[in-house]
Amino acid sequence: MAGTYDRSSEVKAFDEMKIGVKGLVDAGITQIPRIFHHPPHVTVPNPPKPSSTVVVIPTIDLGGGMLESAVTRESVVAKVRDAAEKFGFFQVINHGIPLDVMEKMKDGTRGFHEQDTEVKRGFYSRDITKKVKYNTNFDLYSSQAANWRDTLTTVMAPDVPKAEELPNICRKIFLEYSKQMMKLGELIFELLSEALGLETSHLKELDCAKSLSLLSHYYPPCPEPDRTFGISSHTDISFITILLQDHIGGLQVLHDGYWIDVLPNPKALIVNLGDLLQLISNDKFVSVEHRVLANRGEEPRISIASFFMHTIPNEQVYGPIKELVSTQNPPKYRDTTTTEMARHYLAKGLDGASPLLHFRI
Ligand code: OGA
Ligand code: NI
Repeated sequence: MAGTYDRSSEVKAFDEMKIGVKGLVDAGITQIPRIFHHPPHVTVPNPPKPSSTVVVIPTIDLGGGMLESAVTRESVVAKVRDAAEKFGFFQVINHGIPLDVMEKMKDGTRGFHEQDTEVKRGFYSRDITKKVKYNTNFDLYSSQAANWRDTLTTVMAPDVPKAEELPNICRKIFLEYSKQMMKLGELIFELLSEALGLETSHLKELDCAKSLSLLSHYYPPCPEPDRTFGISSHTDISFITILLQDHIGGLQVLHDGYWIDVLPNPKALIVNLGDLLQLISNDKFVSVEHRVLANRGEEPRISIASFFMHTIPNEQVYGPIKELVSTQNPPKYRDTTTTEMARHYLAKGLDGASPLLHFRI
């Protein structure tokens, strides 16, 4: 295992090929390189929860994005509060985003990853300030074990990229999808503000809904799925993340000490709260660990994670919201910035202790 070979030179050799894990699969490998091996105690399948009913994350109907009547809105806010406190995850249906936009977004992502290697290579980068980049694992050099996943990352707001800055094959749908995400993001931040007992616009005024990055993931079939992950266990750094996943499955969320499956639903979008929201809510809402198992099927798995968080560098300061703290409930975190958090995240790599601990008072 780690330590018995020169891991860093093997990581570098893989990275410098700029072909992604998809490139390894295309080359016909039947065993995965050892840089992808996770320790055996991490990859053992977890026992299912010993309970007669299967636990699932809450589903919330957003009524097409129009929550005009106070009664409906109040009941939706109550559901959001419950989910945000107990699961850190929920899925939304009737969210107002047309199904064909969701389908085209998955197609566009797949199109990017399945196009000619030479075209993709032009986007390959690890520069954290770059607004459009493609690579395998943002934490490839800092994590203990790599994951079986390639990602195209595009910053879409507040500065909307010029069409020509985006990859040709997916630019149109990325711009359209982002417009829709910004709208849905606003509604969800309004509901979360109300769920915290704050003014409807509170989180929007803190600029939580202002910045959007898309992480367009491609999880190729993995020849040895029991030795690695698609994404190892982690929490998101964002305020919130809105996830679109395809029909393959593999996403799991930690709940009450057990991993529960988030089963694909073609009409739903999954919302999870990130570390920044847990920090500003002073732990009222939770940012929960989740992971994706390595793809054991024959088709690639596609997902698009819309991260609401500021682009690096950004010096805006965040700490527990004043209205949510008191002498009985003092601030649990010191002030920080997205940039400081992102640096800490990158240095640490996914998996292991919550990055939030570093900011606790
Ligand atoms: C992420 C993430 C899950 C998925 O991008 O942070 O958890 O299903 N993605 O791709
Ligand atoms: Ni995540």
